[in-house]
Amino acid sequence: MVFKDTLLKDEVALITGATRGIGRATAMALASVSAEVIICGRNAVALHAVTDEITASGGKTRAYVCDVTDFEQVDRMLADIIQVYKKIDILVNNAGISKEAPFDEMNWKDIEQIFKINQTAPIYLMYKILPIMVQQKHGHVINIGSGGAVRGLPGSAAYSSSKSGLLKYGEAVGDEVWKRGHHHVHVNTICPGPVDTEMFKKSAVREFILQGGGDLSTTEDIANAVIWLSTEKLSGVTNSQTLILRGFNRW
Ligand SMILES: NC(=O)c1ccc[n+]([C@@H]2O[C@H](COP(=O)([O-])OP(=O)(O)OC[C@H]3O[C@@H](n4cnc5c(N)ncnc54)[C@H](OP(=O)(O)O)[C@@H]3O)[C@@H](O)[C@H]2O)c1
Repeated sequence: MVFKDTLLKDEVALITGATRGIGRATAMALASVSAEVIICGRNAVALHAVTDEITASGGKTRAYVCDVTDFEQVDRMLADIIQVYKKIDILVNNAGISKEAPFDEMNWKDIEQIFKINQTAPIYLMYKILPIMVQQKHGHVINIGSGGAVRGLPGSAAYSSSKSGLLKYGEAVGDEVWKRGHHHVHVNTICPGPVDTEMFKKSAVREFILQGGGDLSTTEDIANAVIWLSTEKLSGVTNSQTLILRGFNRW
């Protein structure tokens, strides 16, 4: 899809986990429609490769080395963003991990880690950023959920339920702010099926899906959905679930 290159001019967008995959594609796509793109992740070298690429193509960007599960780091990043930009218009809660195993073979530490990164951290970011959006009377939160949020996936019980909790928290707070009359603050969740990224390369079901003729979504498909949900033209769209489930029926 081609969006007008000034569609999100002067909008400040924070994308978590943007060193690769869906987050990176989303950062590039938001920069291409003139948003000011703030990215975070744990790998400084990979982060700066993304900011270099955005800057080289004329985009505006800034990077923070930040582990989203470390709330002191998150608080420092948010304070700095507010000091520099004075606002946050778009939050893309994208950082996430997946670990697959039968539920009774899964290491408990891995289960805790999945919930920390996929559920607690994005909820903390909403908890901190939604009040800012309410105050500035403008904002879009876009959570990257999963098809697993709507149908629990065998072999991915912790992952599915972490994403399901994120989806429901987003729905609830989105409804709360709407009902309080803040009709320019939106919370929506994109639930992708399999997407061709590093994460999915490690999936036990990858070959099965591909051999069955199921194709994968591209990172650009998901990035385009983020842009679509970030536009003011969709000012009445909140609490939505955007399901992009190519290949999912083979799971
Ligand atoms: N690929 C799929 O099939 C698929 C399907 C449905 C939903 N999703 C969801 O889409 C999102 C992106 O997935 P992807 O496929 O693009 O995965 P990916 O290629 O593995 O990328 C994950 C990103 O998250 C970052 N990240 C992980 N833990 C982090 C932490 N604690 N703090 C900050 N950043 C962290 C990683 O950066 P660093 O490691 O450099 O910190 C990386 O940039 C995830 O939420 C995932 O659950 C993916």
